[in-house]
Amino acid sequence: MASSFFWNRIANRYARQPLGDEAAYQKKLQITRDYLELDMEVLEFGCGTGSTALAHAPFVKHILATDFSAKMIEIAQGKADAQNIENITFQRANIDELNLPDQSLDVVMGHSILHLLDNWRDVIIKVHGKLKPGGTFITSTACIADTMPYFRFIAPIMRLLGLTLQIFTTKELEQSLTNAGFEIEHQWQPGEGASLFVVAKKR
Ligand SMILES: C[S@@+](CC[C@H](N)C(=O)[O-])C[C@H]1O[C@@H](n2cnc3c(N)ncnc32)[C@H](O)[C@@H]1O
Repeated sequence: MASSFFWNRIANRYARQPLGDEAAYQKKLQITRDYLELDMEVLEFGCGTGSTALAHAPFVKHILATDFSAKMIEIAQGKADAQNIENITFQRANIDELNLPDQSLDVVMGHSILHLLDNWRDVIIKVHGKLKPGGTFITSTACIADTMPYFRFIAPIMRLLGLTLQIFTTKELEQSLTNAGFEIEHQWQPGEGASLFVVAKKR
């Protein structure tokens, strides 16, 4: 199982880092907002320093925002406290250990995380199980094999440095979502090599 060591080490730097493409991020927030309602229960896994959960909090009932890095969660909680946002529960948890009732969530978000998980296909299946029928999974994912298939050879070296990378294509991601029982409703890639933004509905 991947360790949180790498992410704890870089958390402060990650929090300070400006977004690569602010316009694309804002557009993803806007698209997501169309799927949110004030009575909704939302999960965000791999929430990092909490920016996305904080942005969506005013538009839903409650967000459980989880990350296995204690440092990321500490920073996220600090931001929520500073902004007096009370409807987010930040929790340190590995996605594999997250035990929620089946069919209990309206929306699940996982941004810039599936490509970090050894068992990303199983995680998609798990997300599907936790969503209510008609629920929505929203993910922004680096499909590294589309443009940099040679990363398959670099990934083992990165693993030695503590960063697990999964190298898959857009097609493989789409296929895994469909196999799990999702219907892809919206798909957008801001540019070549950019993360693929997907809104998928539980059938
Ligand atoms: C690239 S960052 C993305 C953070 C945030 N979602 C964003 O879009 O800025 C990946 C995050 O996933 C977390 N993470 C990686 N593997 C995880 C796992 N197995 N369970 C929970 N969190 C994990 C890391 O700690 C890190 O905060």
